[in-house]
Amino acid sequence: MTEVRAAGVAAVIVLAAGASTRMKSRTSKLLHPICGRSMLSWCLDAAVSLQPERLVVVVGQMRDQVEAHLDDIAPSAVRAFQASPLGTGHAVQCGLEALGEVTGEVVVTYGDVPMLSPRALGDLLASHRDDGNAITVLTAVVDDPTGYGRVVRRGDQVTSIVEHRDADADQLGLREINAGIYVFQADLLRAGLAQLRSDNDQGQLYLTDLVAYASDQGQRVGAFIEADAWQTQGVNDRVQLAAVNREMNRRIVRDWMLRGVTVVDPATTWIERDVALAGDVEIWPDTILRGATTVGEAAVIGPDSRLTDVEVGPRAQVVRSEAVLAVIGPDAQVGPFSYLRPGTELGAAGKVGAFVETKQARIGAGAKVPHLTYCGDAVVGESTNIGAGVIFANYDGATKSVSTVGRRSFIGSDSVLVAPVQIGDDAFVAAGSVITDDVPDGALAVARGRQAEIPGWVARRRQEGAAEPDSNSGAPSTGSEL
Ligand code: UD1
Ligand code: CA
Repeated sequence: MTEVRAAGVAAVIVLAAGASTRMKSRTSKLLHPICGRSMLSWCLDAAVSLQPERLVVVVGQMRDQVEAHLDDIAPSAVRAFQASPLGTGHAVQCGLEALGEVTGEVVVTYGDVPMLSPRALGDLLASHRDDGNAITVLTAVVDDPTGYGRVVRRGDQVTSIVEHRDADADQLGLREINAGIYVFQADLLRAGLAQLRSDNDQGQLYLTDLVAYASDQGQRVGAFIEADAWQTQGVNDRVQLAAVNREMNRRIVRDWMLRGVTVVDPATTWIERDVALAGDVEIWPDTILRGATTVGEAAVIGPDSRLTDVEVGPRAQVVRSEAVLAVIGPDAQVGPFSYLRPGTELGAAGKVGAFVETKQARIGAGAKVPHLTYCGDAVVGESTNIGAGVIFANYDGATKSVSTVGRRSFIGSDSVLVAPVQIGDDAFVAAGSVITDDVPDGALAVARGRQAEIPGWVARRRQEGAAEPDSNSGAPSTGSEL
């Protein structure tokens, strides 16, 4: 964790009232995920790191969605409402009204700048304090400043910010851009907002005009140049969303490598923010670790696997598989081509193999479900072997029921266990059985048609076929001859 240099401000106002037009989404852009968290949640994390006395989120467009999400991630945040998007200056006015009386430092951030870190915000605040500024602007020097407000300077002082669409030819050449993140002294902020006019290309109230206002009054306006330009990158469309997601992921993956995780191909490995990995974990290409997934020491995951909210024990191996809300015990093996659905618990050194689907299944230590099985609503005791093609028929079309298999038992290939059914310890079910009744401990259960042989049947059939070539082209029914 990087050190945060400064904290403790009167308020942070997070602007989140914009229309997200360029995302072309029914979902507010602030709710789109980046490495497992919403864009807004990343922004609030950074805001909260400044330890504000009060946190205000200005909502407007898609307000219902944004507020419902705030209920989940920041229930104590004050909400301000901006009925129509009249500009960033107007949005901050709305935030300030919701705050009421406030003195000291007010920080303004955006809900759509997800990579802004607590470290950068802390540095911005420290520089504001060190220089005794009335306003400090977070800026970055970029290769392509198109669309951004340009920072106009006189020495170390900022004299104005000019929006791209309002800039003249000289100003368009400036490569230092306004990130839209600021520290204001509250009294200046209030006075400046009160005199804003909308005489610009968009007819909006621009927060950026406060810079010239303060500067004209002889107040100090400084800038903190953030060297890591990603931290100032706003997300307006899905191209930027993908770019930020990839960069954030690159950093997370790199971090895990430096902490002792082997990542064979960082470019195709996706690790969400809340995932936790132990030392010597090995991750193969095309692997996606999501949600609250945890992976124990020296476990090997991938290639081609996706784990969502899964707990993987030490030394377990997961190859080409999908798992959701499952527990994979230490030394267990999963895959290739397994599908572990919610409620799966695979015991230590257990095995779930190729083309096996499990759901609400407790599979004991050392138990094996190696091939072609559906194992739903099942309890399988330790060291039991489930043969190829066994189906736990858990659903009768109306209700689901649980079937239990005891310890050290053997279920022969292609058997169907029609739930609810209980099979004891050390029991044996013959291959191809359809089990509808309980099987006691130690018993053999056979539940299938008995085999019969008819000697010479093939030769007779061939002779009949030669004599009457056109009749009886299909196979004769064995049933009629028995
Ligand atoms: C703004 C800055 C620009 C800066 C850029 C950085 C102004 C006038 N310009 O431009 O100098 O380089 O950000 O990304 O401030 N919002 C509201 N209500 C509104 C308008 C905007 O809440 O009425 C919110 C948006 O949801 C967004 C943020 O404010 O989170 C910025 O708004 P946007 O319209 O994207 O500003 P830019 O034109 O990008
Ligand atoms: Ca923007």
